[in-house]
Parts: sequence; structure tokens; C-alpha cells
Amino acid sequence: MPSSKFQRARLARVLNYRDARRMARWTLPRGVFDYVDGGTEDEVTLRRNTAAFEELRLRPRMGIWVDEPKTSTTLFGQELSFPVLTAPCGGMKLIHPEADLGVARAAAAAGTIHIASSMSGFSLEQIAQGSPDRHWFQLYRFRSREGMENLVLRAGAAGYKAIVATLDTQVVSKREKDWRNGFSYSMRPNVANVLKLGPQLAPHPFWIARYVRDGMPFEVANTAAMAQDGVPMQLNEVGGRGRTSSPTWEDLAWVRDNFDGPLLVKGVLSADDCRKAIDLGCNGVIVSNHGGRQLDGAPATMEVLPEIVAAVGDRTEVLVDSGVRRGGDVLKALSLGAKAVLVGRPYVWGLAIAGQDGVAHMLELLRTEMERSMKMMGCTSVAELDPSWVGSPGLQSPDPEQALR
Ligand code: FNR
Repeated sequence: MPSSKFQRARLARVLNYRDARRMARWTLPRGVFDYVDGGTEDEVTLRRNTAAFEELRLRPRMGIWVDEPKTSTTLFGQELSFPVLTAPCGGMKLIHPEADLGVARAAAAAGTIHIASSMSGFSLEQIAQGSPDRHWFQLYRFRSREGMENLVLRAGAAGYKAIVATLDTQVVSKREKDWRNGFSYSMRPNVANVLKLGPQLAPHPFWIARYVRDGMPFEVANTAAMAQDGVPMQLNEVGGRGRTSSPTWEDLAWVRDNFDGPLLVKGVLSADDCRKAIDLGCNGVIVSNHGGRQLDGAPATMEVLPEIVAAVGDRTEVLVDSGVRRGGDVLKALSLGAKAVLVGRPYVWGLAIAGQDGVAHMLELLRTEMERSMKMMGCTSVAELDPSWVGSPGLQSPDPEQALR
């Protein structure tokens, strides 16, 4: 979708993720902004995620001229122009009508991969069509075991290259900002809620207008194919009260037997769980604490990444997310052994500002920050990165002698 002059002008003022976050805050009603921005309970893990990146130091090498740093990498035989995937994020129709379709298109245009959420605003088939060959599917235990099986079989038929089973969403966590704002997956569009949310919505007529035009943003598109009448369910029918949760190890064994492509688990934070996943036939692990949105008190992912890479890095692809904000963060994660990273909130803020173009802008910022940092580090290719490129007091490392020099 071509961007309007207004959108281009807005994006020109977005120099980094902080600008994007600020503009998203102006654009979205408070409850929706906080749904994206917030974490669980005291938000300790949320804060730790970004702090852990900040505490790591990049260790540049001088006297090396790098003309064109090589950022590309390969995941399961597929080339990515740079090692940043867009994370699965549910509820994106609340953010912008282009929602997951815009995200998937922006990711494909940037030469990377979007991981479509089970809770996407467009159906998994629509997203697959919008980003041929560049999509993975994120799996929840959707309403029931049968719901999950339905998604796996459809993802296979729609040509998804890989399935990512998210393990850390046993229940929806206590996100207190959402509670205070009256925002919930089990929210019903009734008079009481309209009155409660009225003051939050009133300052955002453009946001309201989008939905008057586009229809209710609370539908879970993937449920349409499951319903006899073909009408998608509302978020309140599938979310809440534990009805949608994470697959168990038993569920994963079924997925392994019924999906031919690579299978990854997302939300693992220990070497033991990663070993278990590999023993079950998984091909990759995504070290994640759900961006600080699930168990508060869980470690920052950068704190456990070295231990996991040391345990399983030679047997499987290790990816990481939660707290990646800058190109330099990507380089830090790769130095500690990740093959690629996922970003969540940064692209969602971009989506809020300008739909697909906003997502493209955020991905381009990350890419150019990566390239510029690599030039200043004397690093010619992401393949060169290893623990010798970072230093940090206090973080675990597979080879402390080398990493902490
Ligand atoms: C998420 N995340 C998520 N994860 C998942 O597996 N399925 C989902 O449906 C969602 N939904 C979701 C919605 C929103 C609004 C956010 C912000 C996040 C978690 C996501 O995939 C990823 O793990 C984190 O967002 C990464 O952290 P950062 O980059 O946001 O710090």
C-alpha cells in the first residue's frame, strides 16, 4: 500500500525505537498502547530484558575498513537478508487495519521472515498468500487439542515453512495495566465497556474511524475455518480463562508427527528444556520470556543465552528475543551464539504509526544500525561474531575467559 505524504512525514521523524514508541503512544488509545507496551506484575523481567542488552559491551577492532558488512544468514536452508525476524504478536488489528498482513509483507520485502501468530487478525491462509515463502506459523494450544491440530494441518497445507510452538503461555499472566485500563481478551463490546473505555477512546477519533470503516478489531481470524458458520470468534471467546494455552510436550510429539518442516519451541529459558525439545525432534529453540509479558521474575534472555548455546548450540538453531531494540543488540545476541533474533514491540510501534510502511521503516532502522555498528567494529560479516566481540561484567558465558576479556 503506497504511503501517504502524511505518513512519510511522520516516519521521517522516527529516528529510533524511542521515537516510534512515543508516536505510537499518541496514536493509540491508552489501553491499546499499554497492551503492547506493558509487562507482567512489577515488570521486572520487562526492564531486565533491555538492561541486559545495555550491560553488554561491544568490543570493536580498529584499523579494519569494512565496505559492505555482510548481514545475511541462512535459517533452515532459507536465506535472510539480515538476522531479524518479526515475532508473532496477537491482536494486531487493534493496532492498525493492515495488521499481520502488513507486517508479513514488510518482513518479506525486507528479505526476512514473519512468524504469524495463532491470534492473528488475518487468517493464516491470508497471511501465507501475502508473503509467499517467507512465513512461519506460531502455534498455541488453541481452545483445545483439536483446535491446535486444526491449525497445524492448515499451516502445513498453506505452505508455512516452519512451526513455532510457544510454550510459555500456560495462562495469560497478570498484566496489571490491562486490568486497570479495562483492557482484556475477554472484553465484550457491550454498553458497560464502551462507557468504561469512552474517555480513553475519545482523544483518538482517527483510531475509532479506522474501525468503523474496517470492522471490529477483536476477531480471531483463524477461528473462521473452525466455525460451522464460517464466522470468526471474538477474542473474548478464545482468550481468557485458560481456553487458549501453550502446547505440552505430549502435544509437541503430535505436531512433530504431523508437520514435515522445521519445528521450533519458543519461550524456553533453560538448557534442560532445550535438550528435551531436541530429543522430541525439534529443530530450533527460541530463547524468550515473551518480552516480559508472562512470568515476572523470569531471567532476561541474554542472561541465559550463553548457557543454552553451550548446551545445545551445536545440535540446533538457537534464536532469541525479548528486549532487542537496536542494531547493536542484534550484534550482541549473535556474538553470544544466537543465529538470529526476533523483534516484537519495535515493529508493533511502527505498525501503529504507518501500517506496513511503519514496520518496513523499523526493520530498515535495525538493519542500518547493524551495518553502521559493524563498520565501526571492524566486523565484515555476522558469521564472524563470537563471544570475543562482547564483554560484560556479571553475565554468564560459555567461555568466561574469552567473553570477559
Ligand atoms: C506478543 N508475543 C506473542 N508471542 C507469541 O508467541 N504469540 C502471540 O500471540 C504473542 N502476542 C504478543 C502480542 C504483543 C502485543 C506483544 C508485544 C508480544 C511475544 C512476542 O512474540 C515476542 O516474544 C516479544 O514481543 C519479544 O519481546 P520485545 O521485542 O517485544 O521486547
